[in-house]
Amino acid sequence: MVVLRRDTYDEMCRSAADLIAEEIRRKPKAVLGLATGSSPLGVYRHLIEMYREGKVDFSCVRTVNLDEYCGLPKDHPESYARFMRENFFGQINIDPQNTFIPNGTAEDPDAECARYDHLIGWLGGIDLQLLGIGFNGHIGFNEPSDRFIEETHRVRLTQSTLIANARFFPGGVPPEYAITVGMKTILGAKSVLLIAGEEKYRIVKRAFTGEITPRVPASILQTHSHATVIYVGEEEL
Ligand code: F6R
Repeated sequence: MVVLRRDTYDEMCRSAADLIAEEIRRKPKAVLGLATGSSPLGVYRHLIEMYREGKVDFSCVRTVNLDEYCGLPKDHPESYARFMRENFFGQINIDPQNTFIPNGTAEDPDAECARYDHLIGWLGGIDLQLLGIGFNGHIGFNEPSDRFIEETHRVRLTQSTLIANARFFPGGVPPEYAITVGMKTILGAKSVLLIAGEEKYRIVKRAFTGEITPRVPASILQTHSHATVIYVGEEEL
């Protein structure tokens, strides 16, 4: 695992955006696994800037998002589908038909999960997976548990995740359930890039210097042969 420390959020995002842009230049039809939330916002901003400057071309890129809330239609202001459109896809030259996100309103969530795994297989797997990390160590919405779940699945979000994400739902509460890819998809990515702001220092230290356990789901990235962690902090891990 490569662990890189940065002094500021912006430096972290720039480094992550550089690695993603490099991957696209190396493989214009790359399959990117993408995340939502506050951590990747700056990464998307830098990539948009690079696109505007003609430094990166998304026309053949395919993307697969990690997760979506159950029950939120894709136009709901807090759906991850809308987040991606507003904060990234709508501002670059990606073909919307090449962007994939689990359908949170599928009538049969289990069938939707199976479809999503099949789709990722059909795309040939993920070349580069971008990840944030929850305060409880989750990646995607793989919440702390007594086992790692391999497949895409419907998950009941933990109280700590609901509290952390309540800030995006002014006057409301986030949905209790979500669909998330499982560990097989994340670990199957050819490379993994996890970013973590200053506020995540404690969990980053625990996940990447401590025991590998499903109680801290991100800790499994220690076993990945091409994992990079970029975090903001004053101290080395
Ligand atoms: C989002 C996702 C989550 C977030 C994590 C951190 O698609 O899968 O694992 O990356 O909850 O969220 P932020 O970046 O908002 O602190």
